[in-house]
Amino acid sequence: MIGTRILAYDKISSTNELLKSSKLSLPSGSVVWALEQTSGRGRFGRYWHSPKGGLWFSVLFKHRTRSVQLHYYVILFSVTIVKFLQKLKIEAKVKWPNDIYAKNRKLAGVLAEGKTHGESAEIIVGVGMNVNNEIPPELREKAVNLKELVGHEMSLATVLDEVISQANSLYLRYMVKDKQRYLVRIWKRHQLFTPGSKLRVRVGLEEEKEAVLIDVEPNMLVLDFGRGPEKCTSVEVVHWEVAA
Ligand code: BTN
Repeated sequence: MIGTRILAYDKISSTNELLKSSKLSLPSGSVVWALEQTSGRGRFGRYWHSPKGGLWFSVLFKHRTRSVQLHYYVILFSVTIVKFLQKLKIEAKVKWPNDIYAKNRKLAGVLAEGKTHGESAEIIVGVGMNVNNEIPPELREKAVNLKELVGHEMSLATVLDEVISQANSLYLRYMVKDKQRYLVRIWKRHQLFTPGSKLRVRVGLEEEKEAVLIDVEPNMLVLDFGRGPEKCTSVEVVHWEVAA
């Protein structure tokens, strides 16, 4: 069960890092929650601004397996957030692979990391959501907080509780019964990018290229750069025009 133990902190470096380095020998499903992170991290190791007022937490999963498919954990929490927002009458979309967008601005991000030792694996899934934290003026066109979407501040404890309970029901329904394909089907229905969308993607550190989206898969985008379909796993979409 997710949330069997919840460890709450005022200020730590990063909830993902704490779980990774944790000598606390926590059970699977444990949650680390921080009101503030000093070294929050996002995809590609980028700094993740995590001031007071936002929701910053990570979940630990422990499994007896040699192979870990991290993308299913990103999908689990992406669908969780989309469904949590639906209950608040907010329509949200998943920007492949790990962002949640509302009103065309980023509300939340998910970061899954894993390590295997022999027959067992540890997966750490971090979730960051702008809730009551102010969005800096220079980011207001690109990022949004929940306070603006619902029109009032939200209790972080309540949001965490509801997100955990939503994650639990999806986890028990799709992840422990090997039914991830059904979860992927739901996830696919909430994609920001539709087939035919024109994307500008960053490949590697510098190069940006234009492409047309053919398909979104859990661990890849299928893109056409003008030479037919290509499978792309490690690209970042920096600009997009969504096909109707
Ligand atoms: C992204 O959009 O690149 C993913 C951002 C994930 C941020 C969360 S906040 C809680 C957890 N701790 C971290 O250091 N990162 C994740």
